Amino acid sequence: MPYGSRLAATMTRRLGRECVYTPSARLALYLALRRWCRPGGRVLMSPVNDDVILFVVLAAGLRPVQALVSPWDGNIDPAAVPESTWRGVDAVLTTSLYGMPDRIVELRDRCEQLGIPLIEDAAHAIGTHVDGQPIGTFGKAAAFSLSKHVAGMAGGFLAVEDARARRELELLRDDLLTPARLTADLSTALRPLARSTVRALHLVRPTWRTMQRLGLLERDDFRMSLHAPRLSLCAHEAPSLLPYDPWIRVDLHDYRARHGRLVRAGLNLRMNMLDENLSRRREGVTLLSGTPWASPALNDRAAHHGPLPLFRVPLLVDDRDALVERLVTHGIVSGYIYDPPLDDYAGPEFTDPSPDPTAARWFASHVLPADPLLARKLTKALTKERTKTAHPPAPSPAKPIPDTTPPAPLGQ
Ligand SMILES: Cc1ncc(COP(=O)(O)O)c(C=O)c1O
Repeated sequence: MPYGSRLAATMTRRLGRECVYTPSARLALYLALRRWCRPGGRVLMSPVNDDVILFVVLAAGLRPVQALVSPWDGNIDPAAVPESTWRGVDAVLTTSLYGMPDRIVELRDRCEQLGIPLIEDAAHAIGTHVDGQPIGTFGKAAAFSLSKHVAGMAGGFLAVEDARARRELELLRDDLLTPARLTADLSTALRPLARSTVRALHLVRPTWRTMQRLGLLERDDFRMSLHAPRLSLCAHEAPSLLPYDPWIRVDLHDYRARHGRLVRAGLNLRMNMLDENLSRRREGVTLLSGTPWASPALNDRAAHHGPLPLFRVPLLVDDRDALVERLVTHGIVSGYIYDPPLDDYAGPEFTDPSPDPTAARWFASHVLPADPLLARKLTKALTKERTKTAHPPAPSPAKPIPDTTPPAPLGQ
């Protein structure tokens, strides 16, 4: 039986698509990019995303191209992407950030017209549907993460449109896995328990502060250090995961470890509790949607699709960074902040910048990703802190967007 096939079968039943089990979503994305994109290709993506994903794209030997995004949810705004950009890309990587669905039907139609693959990073969107269809079933392939909704701190899937690709991807995955180690398995299996114990004993604040002081956090800021000169050298070896390991493993050092039975059994249990988890998330989303800080995109989406079981709820707040610090004193640690946008972070050596970064910068610096499972506690803390709602600046009147199409190769 292929590795992780029981977990993969559970996910296949949920999605209605063939799935390959992977130790992480980042590895699943790497497999998808290797399978559907030729090295040297250009990939349109949202600049409001985890830096790890930028490095996965680079490791696959691809050039990231940053898209224009909506200031309300940070997802790609397909209508705002200039025609010249559309014509110059070879694939699209969506994010469905925090579980808020991408404009996925438009993106799929556009990719079909252009004959390029749509790859879905559905790491945050395991329970999100659009018109009754699950996110993760619109493109050629989609990556899911069990470290998010079910807090497994390991595990992921690659779901594929064409069932015939599954075996090939399993072989590609097996080549990339590192051998199982009992000590690593024990620590992976125990980490989710340690985290819930810290929560249950109200130790979030002292634990977080201690980790900060001891330098145990891998990011000093919201982004990891780029180490540009070292990163430049890796390009000679791409496509390959190995040279990019120091960047890709951040937050999940075992991202390509072959987990043993203990870890997989724990993940199976967590998968069985997913529906209950999703309904608690919907309740939290309903509560947070009614607060003054909720992004209007939330109520707009809820009107069409009902409350979504989001991974995080995008609240838009003034003076976000200071608020994040103060929330720690309420026992609330806010993660998953992707600020600055990837083009500002990595610069033109590593990515094509978006033609107009205003919306991405605004969203990235004002969003507070709120855990819907902590909705009541958060609402109380935000009220106590007299949190002010942020409003995006009015769009500047029709500013021409520079043409960023690369010159066509000679002879075309
Ligand atoms: C948007 C997004 N995609 C992918 C990933 C990678 O997921 P995993 O940790 O399972 O590799 C993350 C991790 O936080 C993420 O935020």
